[in-house]
Amino acid sequence: MKFSKCLNPSNFVAATDGKMTKFYRCDCFVSHNVFLANYRLHVKYQNERQFWEDYEGVLIERGMEDRGKVLDVVKSEVQRRLNLDENVTKNIEHAKKNYQPLHPHIFSYKRDWFEPKFLEFAEVCEDGLLNQSQIVQRYLDTIGTEIYTIKALKPQFCAQMVQELDNFNNSILQRSRPNTMNSSGLIVEEFGLLDFVNQMISELLSPISKVLFPEWYGSGIDSHKSFSLMYALGKDTELAYHYDNAEITFNICLGNKFSGAEVYFTHMTGEEDEEEYWEADHVPGVVMFHRARHLHGTLPLLSGSRYNLLTWLRSSSVRNKLCPICKSPPKLIPSLHMGDGFTAPS
Ligand SMILES: [Fe+2]
Repeated sequence: MKFSKCLNPSNFVAATDGKMTKFYRCDCFVSHNVFLANYRLHVKYQNERQFWEDYEGVLIERGMEDRGKVLDVVKSEVQRRLNLDENVTKNIEHAKKNYQPLHPHIFSYKRDWFEPKFLEFAEVCEDGLLNQSQIVQRYLDTIGTEIYTIKALKPQFCAQMVQELDNFNNSILQRSRPNTMNSSGLIVEEFGLLDFVNQMISELLSPISKVLFPEWYGSGIDSHKSFSLMYALGKDTELAYHYDNAEITFNICLGNKFSGAEVYFTHMTGEEDEEEYWEADHVPGVVMFHRARHLHGTLPLLSGSRYNLLTWLRSSSVRNKLCPICKSPPKLIPSLHMGDGFTAPS
């Protein structure tokens, strides 16, 4: 199985052994893991009665004054998710027709955008001549257990990409928020970077993942969720503790000048007995990568603005067994795009 170049971003997105694959979400997508930022709480919503039974106590403890407002936030997030795929399709079409890029050339994948040592690292992973610990020792800085960094993108590319993201952000184009926790950012489908990211995964991130995280790679990376994030004063400034709905996370810092907004990691979800803590700075051009279910968060930004490109890699052979959000075998609902990376049994 090999991740292949996107053929039609609004429909089928990956090819498996020459056959088109359609992706699904788990039905918990429209009820679980709704994030209430003001209360730093993830909640499940099935109906009002269940919601208040489960969360009224903790919400009062955390200072809830207006029950109606809390319910509105939850219901509007559920509605956003119900409409998400159709809105993404509309936004892609609209942006294709109306967006004027500042730097059109950066939307095409080129090996030239990447640091030579990063390309060499990916090649060494691909050719299989060195084992995992030799590769880690030769190429990577290790932040914590299976959390690595390496300089990946050249400064000129990062600078132009930041300008391009600003340009899109400042346009009047409709866009979807990148996820339930971050509001400032763009999903690559709508921004026009999907082909670039697909090729980067196929040529670089897949071979790296196969060597560094064999147990999460499964029988191959066959879909992803990728988006930019922006941290700036007055916008998103920090990110509460969470894990990513994926198998492997690659997080590339693009710039700019900033202080604070360090990332911290503790233990893997489900390993609550482990007492671990690591902190790491983001550095422009550097990719940080880790197991997606490694719990982490972002400390407050103190000044400036920080842009990152996130790629959550998904392997259906791993996630089809258990949805990482509801922790049950996924109940499939079809998606117009890559969904949450689940596939139907053939
Ligand atoms: Fe994350």
